Amino acid sequence: MFIVLEGIDGTGKTTIANKLADELKSQGYSVFLTQEPTNTWIGKDVRRAIEEEKNGFTQALLFFADRAEHIEELKKNGDKIIICDRYVYSTFAYQSVQLKEKLGISGALDWFRKIYAPMRFDPDLVFLITVDPEEGIRRIYGREKKEKFEKVEFLREVQDVFIKIADEYGFIHINGNQELSKVYSAVHKKVMEKIKSL
Ligand code: TYD
Repeated sequence: MFIVLEGIDGTGKTTIANKLADELKSQGYSVFLTQEPTNTWIGKDVRRAIEEEKNGFTQALLFFADRAEHIEELKKNGDKIIICDRYVYSTFAYQSVQLKEKLGISGALDWFRKIYAPMRFDPDLVFLITVDPEEGIRRIYGREKKEKFEKVEFLREVQDVFIKIADEYGFIHINGNQELSKVYSAVHKKVMEKIKSL
């Protein structure tokens, strides 16, 4: 089973992914916990491109290069419960906002869908955790390195794209403005329902 957690920075996704992995492991499930950008050299190059503010096309293509390799890894772990912190929908949301001047949001989305099509490996469950972008920024405030992405207005637009594509892709939308323990319980409940339905 392949589970993806999506949302803007500061939604608590990573904490939830870790907690879910720990709980499922303690119940005896085999779990593969992973994230994008990955920790491989390509993933590191992706982070470098973000830091150096390379142009939107470069960043989008690097995210896809990292993902193309990652998908091979995901397929090898297909018999486990895969928990992935960010996936292709992050590119859809973040890079479409980055490229909106050049391609428009829907032009960028069309382009990304075409790139994704031949490598396509779709999740069984996608959680979209939304948060007030100002609250998201407050939560990450204090982290040493502030990335360009971590800006309220940008994140608001990114979140709008996530919400726009949520219906189309059947995301489970979770309100991340509540206590993290409640967000976690909502995610955990849906995951257990899905596991039992398989
Ligand atoms: P992430 O590792 O989730 O953030 P953090 O380092 O704070 O834990 O992702 C790094 C940044 O990359 C984050 O701002 C989201 C962005 N991103 C994209 O713009 N497109 C993508 O496809 C992915 C996977 C991440």
